[in-house]
Amino acid sequence: MKINIKLAVVLALCGLVTLMTAATNISKPDDGDFTNLQVLPKDISKPAMNEIMVGEFEDALGVSCRFCHAPNKDGDGLDYASDAKPEKQIARQMLRMTLNLNRDYFKIDTPMVGTGNIVVTCNTCHKGETFPDGDPAKN
Ligand code: HEC
Ligand code: HEC
Repeated sequence: MKINIKLAVVLALCGLVTLMTAATNISKPDDGDFTNLQVLPKDISKPAMNEIMVGEFEDALGVSCRFCHAPNKDGDGLDYASDAKPEKQIARQMLRMTLNLNRDYFKIDTPMVGTGNIVVTCNTCHKGETFPDGDPAKN
């Protein structure tokens, strides 16, 4: 009888561990579950992403999210994963260029925007201006 109770406890604990492991596999605590990242690390955390989108992109260019991100089909909010707006595509190119400048010319092994580990940022050129070389109409 005693042995059976011990066995039951052990089995119950095993079940618990399995459940907990399954739960952690479904969502890592920091994972942002982003679906269309082509330059930034796919497992980037939500706070790190926020730092880049708000602290780096918005502030350096003097724009809001909707400058780069297309609206949702139902018109309510933005579809962040969509690549419909050309500005997002250009921003992606600018992001590649910025990371490459840091890697190739400042010899930083793994440069990342929105961190201290970077020399050239969006703001180095933009300084709050969307078009650092002047009005787009003049181009
Ligand atoms: C200057 C353009 C620009 C601005 C402004 C901008 N973003 Fe982004 N955003 C991007 C680009 C480019 C990517 C894709 C990066 C990549 O491919 O690695 C992206 C990706 C994202 C994603 C990930 C979507 C997915 O699932 O793949 C989220 C969420 C996001 N942005 C939120 C925001 C929010 C919120 C704001 C405003 C606070 C904002 N962005 C402002 C350019 C911008
Ligand atoms: C080395 C300088 C430099 C850096 C660094 C830089 N940019 Fe730019 N960016 C420019 C210039 C110059 C233009 C204007 C291009 C034009 O008028 O055609 C521009 C234009 C843009 C535009 C407007 C495109 C359009 O035509 O609508 C976006 C969006 C943009 N940059 C995003 C970024 C983001 C995001 C970063 C940081 C990841 C960044 N840039 C870093 C120089 C830079």
